[in-house]
Parts: sequence; C-alpha cells; structure tokens
Amino acid sequence: MAVTGLILIGYLLAHMYGNLKIFAGPEAFNAYAHHLRVLGEPLLPRTGALWILRAVLIVSVLAHMYAAFNLWSRAHNARGGTRRYYSNKTRTGVQRTYASYTLRWGGLVILLFVIYHLLHLTWNIIHPGGAAAEPYERVVNGFQIWSVVLAYTIAVIAVGFHVRHGVWSALTTLGANTSTLARQRLNIGAYAVAGVLTVGFLLPPFAILFGFVD
Ligand code: HEM
Repeated sequence: MAVTGLILIGYLLAHMYGNLKIFAGPEAFNAYAHHLRVLGEPLLPRTGALWILRAVLIVSVLAHMYAAFNLWSRAHNARGGTRRYYSNKTRTGVQRTYASYTLRWGGLVILLFVIYHLLHLTWNIIHPGGAAAEPYERVVNGFQIWSVVLAYTIAVIAVGFHVRHGVWSALTTLGANTSTLARQRLNIGAYAVAGVLTVGFLLPPFAILFGFVD
C-alpha cells in the first residue's frame, strides 16, 4: 500500500507540474504532450517510455487497490464482522476516523474520476465543450463549463484528502514515525504535499473558467 501509494504521488506531482504548462500557452502545452510520446527515441520506439510509465502506473493502481481490499478484509475479520470498535471519543460511539472514511470512499471517487478523465482528455471519447485534436484545446474547451470544473474540483479535493492521510500513513509504515518530533514533521510534510497538489491541479481549471487562459 505504502510503496505503490508513493509511486502514484510521484506521478501526480509530475502530472500537476506538467499541467501548469497550460499557462505557457498552446505551443508549450502541446509540445509537452508531444514530448511525452517521443521521450526515449531513438533508443525506444515512439511512446515506448510513455508505455513503461503507464505499465508502472497500472500495476501500482491494481496493487494499491488489492492491498486496500486486503487490509479492509483483515480489519473486518479481526473485529468479527460488520460491528465496529466502540469508541467514547465520538458521539455515535463508533470508531470511524475521518481518515478511514475519506480514504475508502475517496479512493472510489478517485477511481471513477480517473475513468471519466481518461475518456475526456486521453482517449478523446467524450468532449465537453467541443471536440478538439490537440490536448490544449481539449483542456480549454472542457474547463469553460462550470459543471466540468465542479467535477474536477470534487475529484482533486478527494485526491488532496487521500494524499494527506496517505503520505502520513505510508511514511509511518516505512518507519518514519518514531518520535513526537518525527510525527510533527510527518504531519507538516503530508499537509504540504496534499496542499501543493490540490492547489496546483485546481489552478488550470479555475484560470480557464474565469477567462485568464483561453
Ligand atoms: C485539473 C486537473 C487535471 C488536468 C487539467 C489534467 C490533464 C490531463 C491531460 C491533458 C491528460 C492527457 C495527456 C496527453 O494525452 O497528452 C491527462 C492524462 C492523465 N491524467 Fe490528468 N489531469 C488532471 C488531474 C488528474 C488527476 C487528479 C489524476 C489522478 C488522480 C490524473 C490522472 C491522469 C492519468 C492517469 C492520465 C493518463 C496518462 C497517460 O497514460 O497518458 N489527472 N491529464
């Protein structure tokens, strides 16, 4: 769970940085999308490096989901069925942390979003705002529609929550949570990564919606 999660966060940081090229104009953004496809040539065939990256991503997503299901089922069996642990810290008496809630349901929201997002921007099967051959136009056409921006905003916020707890949890699994000071640093680091990703991903859609990029 931890290692695949960190691989996916690495991808998200790179993807967010790449998306910000939208502010450098259509040529820069489309050149960047094109560059991803010819990366590694002539050593690798066209889109060879991209497919290696995609294979790593697909394996990471599947392993991450498998591990999530496995952990959920172990926790479920350990407490003897659907009954949840009693906790006097909550009003309902049920131990349900904000993290366990947002990670599971948030994970599902992210999965559904990624399918929608691939149909929209990678496979060019759905075209809110009008079909376009180039990635720049596809992005700009889509984000002129407030409901598309809203859908992306919900997904990116789900990513933010997921990453906030995920960074903390992954680094704890890998042995970084050893003292109060280490825990404080983990918390700051987790908020920083989640904050940078959330703001960085939301800048292009809102800049387009409000007409700063067209
Ligand atoms: C507002 C935020 C986002 C924008 C503007 C955006 C934009 C794009 C664009 C333009 C592409 C197509 C690249 C190309 O074909 O050249 C793409 C692909 C992709 N995006 Fe996003 N994205 C955003 C958020 C996300 C998030 C939050 C995730 C994951 C949780 C994500 C995951 C992916 C994946 C997996 C691909 C496919 C990469 C590939 O195999 O080619 N994106 N995105």
